[in-house]
Amino acid sequence: MEPALTQFGTQMSRLSGVRAIMKDIIETLRAGGGQQFINLSAGNPVILPPVEHLWRECTEDLLASPEYGEVVCRYGSSQGYQPLIDAVVDDFNQRYDLNLSDRNILITPGSQSIYFYAANAFGGYTQDGQLKEVVLPLSPEYTGYGGVCLTPEALKAYKPTLDIDEGNHRFKYRPDFSQLKISEDTGCLIFSRPCNPTGNVLTNEETSKIQALATEYNVPLLIDSAYGPPFPALNFTEMTPQFGGNLIHCMSLSKAGLPGERIGVAIGEEKLISVLEAFQTNLCIHSSRYGQAIAARAIRSGQLAQFAETVIRPHYQDKFAQLESSLTAAMPDNLPWFLHKGEGAIFAWLWLRDLPITDWELYQTLKKVGVIVVPGSTFFPGLKEDWAHKHQCIRISLTATGEEIATAMQRLAQVVEQVYLQTAIAH
Ligand SMILES: Cc1ncc(COP(=O)(O)O)c(C=O)c1O
Repeated sequence: MEPALTQFGTQMSRLSGVRAIMKDIIETLRAGGGQQFINLSAGNPVILPPVEHLWRECTEDLLASPEYGEVVCRYGSSQGYQPLIDAVVDDFNQRYDLNLSDRNILITPGSQSIYFYAANAFGGYTQDGQLKEVVLPLSPEYTGYGGVCLTPEALKAYKPTLDIDEGNHRFKYRPDFSQLKISEDTGCLIFSRPCNPTGNVLTNEETSKIQALATEYNVPLLIDSAYGPPFPALNFTEMTPQFGGNLIHCMSLSKAGLPGERIGVAIGEEKLISVLEAFQTNLCIHSSRYGQAIAARAIRSGQLAQFAETVIRPHYQDKFAQLESSLTAAMPDNLPWFLHKGEGAIFAWLWLRDLPITDWELYQTLKKVGVIVVPGSTFFPGLKEDWAHKHQCIRISLTATGEEIATAMQRLAQVVEQVYLQTAIAH
């Protein structure tokens, strides 16, 4: 039976962006027929043995403690498990010289849920019927933001400007402040820093400038630090997390080794945090307390931040360096390819200017040579205007081995060269 769906039902039962592609990838891998694929599409972090060991130790400690029953056999407060809240408050006050109290913290089931609460508490239609926008100041962006708005017309993304280093085949996106419009129609702003999919890190100045624009209209600004310091610290360039005022600093334990436990942390002004907390109480009561209890231990001991810097960051930074060197060695110098500067996260982002086929066609062609990437056009949620660039990019995950990355870059270079060449001949 086809159920009759409401507007929200229709919106939320659609597979948005990258999830639709993932379905195709899973089917491709399953139907492989003996073909071996190098899968560079994964968003799942690598299981790094020292990090897994840390979580095992925290679990053993929890199991041996009298706290165990209190943790797993009881409901708790929606705001989060108190020892985790206290560990975050103490760590951040000390590390960043802040003055947080526990009323500034909300623990959520994964950070994705923070964006869902915010996009619908601050974005969408007001009581008076005014549409409040959820603004993404710099596109491309995390595809998950495309799925969190119950009112999809509220989502608005802005085209970036491009800093292009022609000689070195590198580029970097920057927010286009001449276009970015914040007004009384803005409900909230969100951006990821470091960014999935591009690995971009907005500078401290760019971040402050966006915050100043949001402050003028008293609009909450959510900075998605799923890859930021102090954990998982997947920034390869210096960056300072920012706090205070209308800013909600959002973190995730997923890339620090706990994606399955679903733990996100929002840090902000009490008035903003309490709106998000009430949303959470209505939706799902609270995050898993087992995950929160082991996270509290790893943060309190300082080990999580330490492992982030000594294990997690070097692993992915090394993979980016391998990708960069194998791509540079394999790609013809006379083609207009541009790798986004690798400033963080667990992906590389490749732009093929004037690509004669679409990113989707390139994805299909790469599958034939056993390489799976993610077509870039899925990473422009909220960008309504036509822009050829949307169909000229691919996202390459850094979760494969160095050898796999090197082989895949050679195959990618051959395919790309053929694609440009065939079109040149056809003309
Ligand atoms: C930029 C970004 N934000 C948020 C998330 C969601 O993470 P979580 O597991 O905390 O819900 C992801 C997951 O990949 C991400 O890449």
